[in-house]
Amino acid sequence: MSFVNDKDVIEDGDLVILHLGQQNMQKLTVSKGKTHQTRWGCLRHDDILDKPFGSRIECANGYIYALKPTPELWTVTLSHRTQILYSTDISVVILQLDLKPGKIVVESGTGSGSLSHAIIRTVIPDGHLYTYEFHEQRALVAKEEFTDHGFADNVTVTHRDVIERGFDLNDKADAVFLDLPNPQQAVAHARDALKPEGGRLCSFSPCIEQVQKTCVEMSKLDFQEITTMECLIRNFEVRSLKMATPDMGDIEPLSYADDNALGLLCQSEQAVTFKSAIPPQQQAGHTGYLTFATLFHKSTDTT
Ligand SMILES: C[S@@+](CC[C@H](N)C(=O)[O-])C[C@H]1O[C@@H](n2cnc3c(N)ncnc32)[C@H](O)[C@@H]1O
Repeated sequence: MSFVNDKDVIEDGDLVILHLGQQNMQKLTVSKGKTHQTRWGCLRHDDILDKPFGSRIECANGYIYALKPTPELWTVTLSHRTQILYSTDISVVILQLDLKPGKIVVESGTGSGSLSHAIIRTVIPDGHLYTYEFHEQRALVAKEEFTDHGFADNVTVTHRDVIERGFDLNDKADAVFLDLPNPQQAVAHARDALKPEGGRLCSFSPCIEQVQKTCVEMSKLDFQEITTMECLIRNFEVRSLKMATPDMGDIEPLSYADDNALGLLCQSEQAVTFKSAIPPQQQAGHTGYLTFATLFHKSTDTT
């Protein structure tokens, strides 16, 4: 099942993303004659076949939507072999690395391929992702998934320890992305991989100590514009609120910090209703720090 074709109708063997409700999704490969248990009861694969992607499918106790896979939907349904990057960080990586069709990107480690899918989708049809992973099984599974998803022509998966051996390509990349336990040890290899005219580098690290070491190494190797950011989403809830109108009577206006003034507010019989955006009580916490840097033309640097 290709992530890149324009097909509209679901066929036998296609990958679909089942949307089962708020933040509840599963991936499913459609197979004629089979059934699949969902929170809404049994789903017959035959009920999905020949339907357009996006169709609502009835189950015994509810309904689901059968969606066409995208890198974003894959990220929330893939089988985790490792920690992965999520779409909040991924979107910033794509923007800050200035990725677009035709770009050549180097990545390590491949991990579960979450970020890789988004990179490949961004650089196709002429661009290429070279992704490196030192865990052999992870490299194999990622390669199979990229092929299954129609990306085979735009990605090369290499089983390799990039800290020990570097990337096997020099002067080729527009951008390099590192998601490694000791990223500072791969900065020189990243520099070698970048084109002579330079490019962008990103390192993702959960710990600030790794960030510090990586920034020092970037600086030593003449990377510039070094910036570290953390991406957090704050979802505001828009709600109607009711609030008493203050009845100030004949007295002098008082400070709101004054107990008497607050008392006046509470006693008022008049109230106004208005819409307001309420900040979240809880929010998803820290994932990692994204450090970006620019390498200008290699011939002009001091290393
Ligand atoms: C956190 S995962 C990457 C997740 C990936 N960014 C994603 O979104 O799915 C880190 C990966 O780096 C790999 N790795 C660690 N050290 C490595 C090295 N020296 N060379 C190549 N890969 C390495 C690990 O095996 C692991 O799969």
